[in-house]
Amino acid sequence: MHLIILKQTAKALVAPGKGILAADESTKTIQKRLEKIGVESTPETNLAYRRMLFTTPGIEQFLSGVILYDETIRQLINGMPVPKYLENRGIIPGIKVDKGADKIAEGLDGLQNRLTEYKNLGAKFAKWRAVIKVGEDAYIEENAEALARYAGLCQEQDIVPIVEPEVLMDGSHDLAKCKEVTSKVLQAVFAKLKEQGVLLEGMILKPNMVISGKESNMKASAQEIAEATIEVFKTMVPVEVPGIVFLSGGQTPDEATENLKAINEIGGPWQLSYSYGRALQEEALKIWSGKDENVAAAQQTFLDRCKKVSATRSVRPG
Ligand code: 13P
Repeated sequence: MHLIILKQTAKALVAPGKGILAADESTKTIQKRLEKIGVESTPETNLAYRRMLFTTPGIEQFLSGVILYDETIRQLINGMPVPKYLENRGIIPGIKVDKGADKIAEGLDGLQNRLTEYKNLGAKFAKWRAVIKVGEDAYIEENAEALARYAGLCQEQDIVPIVEPEVLMDGSHDLAKCKEVTSKVLQAVFAKLKEQGVLLEGMILKPNMVISGKESNMKASAQEIAEATIEVFKTMVPVEVPGIVFLSGGQTPDEATENLKAINEIGGPWQLSYSYGRALQEEALKIWSGKDENVAAAQQTFLDRCKKVSATRSVRPG
């Protein structure tokens, strides 16, 4: 393990004005996304879609890294392995290594060898998403343990772990409930990370914002979300963690942009950035709709959204 490499990669991933594109939808999830625009998901159509995103001119100004899925990391763009293509553009390639929320043991099984393979394929960082549903506290410990074991294995191989404990927006809970559960989850995660000896300077945290549930009739404002989020993180996240990259989790692109802006206006001791999937892709996906003639318009929309989200990082704490 080389702390200097881990620190360098982590720092580059949360560099000012830049964030991460999560394009690591599993086979099932990409199928759902493409179905919505009337495109059948195959390795070829999945690549065509992701090629549209990754070849967008100018995205390297706003994207430090891209999280890939197992299928994509083995594919080619312009005759080049996707990780190499991204690296040539100054974008760091990463890889999703969990095997789905309900397959924790399966994901950890043989993880060391999979990480070695991914490293050889060009991955410099990894992601493990653990999912917590409000009201299902029983799974917190198990998920925290898995995240910590995964993070330790990554660091052994100089791969920066993105530790993603996601408290889902699903449900009718209010902001206060999300705050309570998120605090509990983060406390458990950092306790396990400590136990496993994970170097906090060489990891990135990818959490949910503290937000009211999708079905809640008391929708919190961006200001309330930002205040609650920063309050929880100031208590639970050690300052040694170089950056927090939020997931969008079902917020609309505008909400995910506004909320991150409000969070950055308050600020904290860490870089406060993004690792958005849906919020960066949603608008471009619709415009693309599987048609070559829409690629340029979809890319422009994608670039515009990346730019808007990136701009939230340069607001001054008020
Ligand atoms: P969303 O931003 O769509 O939540 O995706 C981020 C992610 O990587 C979830 O694991």
